[in-house]
Amino acid sequence: MYIRNAWYVAGWASEFGQELTSVTVLEQRLVMYRTNATTVVALEDRCPHRLLPLSKGKRIGDDIQCGYHGMTFNCSGACIRVPGQDNVPSSAYVRAYPVEQRNDIVFVWMGDAEKANTDLIFDMPEFTSPQWHVHQGDALHLKAHYLNVAENLVDPAHVSFVHPTTLGNAASENVPVHVDTQGDVLVAWRWIRDAEPVGFFQKFGGFSGNVDRWHYYYLHLPSIAVIDFGSASSELNLEEQDRNQGVRIFALHFLTPVNEHYTIDRWLHIRNTAVDDEAASEQMDAMFRIAFNEDKEILEAIDEQEQLPQSRKPIRLAIDKGPTVYRRRIRDMAEQEATEDLGEPLHPTFVHHE
Ligand code: FES
Ligand SMILES: [Fe+2]
Repeated sequence: MYIRNAWYVAGWASEFGQELTSVTVLEQRLVMYRTNATTVVALEDRCPHRLLPLSKGKRIGDDIQCGYHGMTFNCSGACIRVPGQDNVPSSAYVRAYPVEQRNDIVFVWMGDAEKANTDLIFDMPEFTSPQWHVHQGDALHLKAHYLNVAENLVDPAHVSFVHPTTLGNAASENVPVHVDTQGDVLVAWRWIRDAEPVGFFQKFGGFSGNVDRWHYYYLHLPSIAVIDFGSASSELNLEEQDRNQGVRIFALHFLTPVNEHYTIDRWLHIRNTAVDDEAASEQMDAMFRIAFNEDKEILEAIDEQEQLPQSRKPIRLAIDKGPTVYRRRIRDMAEQEATEDLGEPLHPTFVHHE
């Protein structure tokens, strides 16, 4: 259940240099590197001759020479040399994938190249605003299906039970979840009014009394999540549109589906508090690591269970609104891509003559 026509994160910008790096996205292996002009290139990591991964070859300028018999490919995937013969067969090429670097993140388009539109790349104004601090976190590797990982990121109801020391507490156990769809973005949210600050905001909010706390989970289809969470003194009785007046943090998760049982979650955060305070960044990352490893443990245990024979279907609860809508949208998108792939018939059966 992969959506191909989408921009996926291949890695942080710092993960790509002059050397050949092999990256797997949607079960396709890519060889990636920076050209001498520092643009990142992604090619199919498989020589069309004997299928040796090109990442096992070597760079000759901006080109790659296969490590087995020396066929050489340029950075648009065309073969420019076949040792031992003068002609280059027309089938001697590798696929080139559109790549774009933005906000120190490298995105790759996994679908039809002609549909790659850089306007669709995830962005938000806080990345470049001086009132906000952007801090890159880690790449969390999970042995879990990306749909289960994404579902967890549109599911505010697990927070009280999975993250009791950092992001949740018992005050939110019974608060209902709202869900809405805005184009290709799903949002699930809830407010917990007039409650004790959770661990995260005890540390970073400097609150002395009770707070109003919000959690908005935005899921940009297919697999980028923005968790907008924060707290403000309950005395302010903050409205939804005034969240910037509180301590507000965006935790971003870029999910890269590697295969059906492996997902990489590259996460970072953007905050309106402790701007330029690198010590605070490290302290927040330490808390995020605790929380996200709690999710990892749960999601990997679920993946193990899903691989065992099943005698009944999982049940659905009222809190599952976000995940249910998410899975339906992904199913629709996958179906739409599959139908588009059928395309026009090559040899129409009926020919009409006037
Ligand atoms: S396998 Fe690449 S040239 Fe033979
Ligand atoms: Fe979680």
